[in-house]
Amino acid sequence: MRRGSIVRMLAIGIASAIVVALVAVLIPWLPDSASEEMDRITFTYWFATVICIGIFAVVAAVIVYSVRTFRVQPDDDSDGPPIHGHTGIEILWTVIPFVLVTAIAIVSAVVLAENGDAGSNPLRVNVFAQQFAWRFEYPQQNGLRSGELVLQLDRSTKLELQAADVIHSFWIPQMGQKQDAVPGITTELVITPTRTGTFTVICTELCGLGHATMRARARVVTKGEFQRWVRQQQRPAGGGGGGGEGAQLFASAGCGGCHALQKAGTDAQVGPSLDDIGSKGADFVRESIVDPNADVTQGYQPGVMPTTFGESLSNQEIDALVQYLTQGG
Ligand code: CUA
Repeated sequence: MRRGSIVRMLAIGIASAIVVALVAVLIPWLPDSASEEMDRITFTYWFATVICIGIFAVVAAVIVYSVRTFRVQPDDDSDGPPIHGHTGIEILWTVIPFVLVTAIAIVSAVVLAENGDAGSNPLRVNVFAQQFAWRFEYPQQNGLRSGELVLQLDRSTKLELQAADVIHSFWIPQMGQKQDAVPGITTELVITPTRTGTFTVICTELCGLGHATMRARARVVTKGEFQRWVRQQQRPAGGGGGGGEGAQLFASAGCGGCHALQKAGTDAQVGPSLDDIGSKGADFVRESIVDPNADVTQGYQPGVMPTTFGESLSNQEIDALVQYLTQGG
């Protein structure tokens, strides 16, 4: 091959590599990492992307060069020269892809294994998913329950996920990993936060009418703040007005995922607004919680609200919720 051809092909290859590298770097394809797991996923992503940019440049160089150089001339009806392959090149284009694909497989397998390892003493959180809310329970903190996921900076957390009704999927974009919550089995996910801040837990599996509203707040705090939060949550509810336990249950059971209630600061539209429900009486409110299909508000479909609250909440908790919802203002 003439020297000029090689230089031209090289120039095309480098130009293609620069163009795709700019597309890869200038567009923020991934959210800013907030966990060790996401750091590893980001590394894997760039490892594969750099290899792909190299392959793209080689292929683009050969194609563009060939199309320009070997194009048929006008009125040239002759056959091309008979070519019977080239053993050297064939070995090369078999061995190089084999090595690259194997390297990507090894890196991915190592990252997958490390991202599933929570170490010997993780913070444990039980995650309950149901249409259309997330609830979190901390077994190491006396079974503390929360409607908000609070995580500790630099501490591995092992989430154990369960679903009450249909398949949901847990995802905090900045933390990288996703995990399905499947009825009947317990699945796991590890998060090791690397920066503090407020994030959003998103349900990423279509699970019904309220799927798009199935979100929860996640907060990463320092160790001291975490301990303060735990103490605050464990203080006996009640007092302070505003319905104490009932207000807390309204948040932790996820009612606000579907219902608007002014005093709770929610404005979801999946189910009817609860602002005036007190006027229908305590019996109606109780029935609507434990047997929501018995008397469905006009304009709404039966079968949307979960029928599991009669089991997942204790009698005492239901009393507190009914009281909270029937209290004025
Ligand atoms: Cu739960 Cu989508």
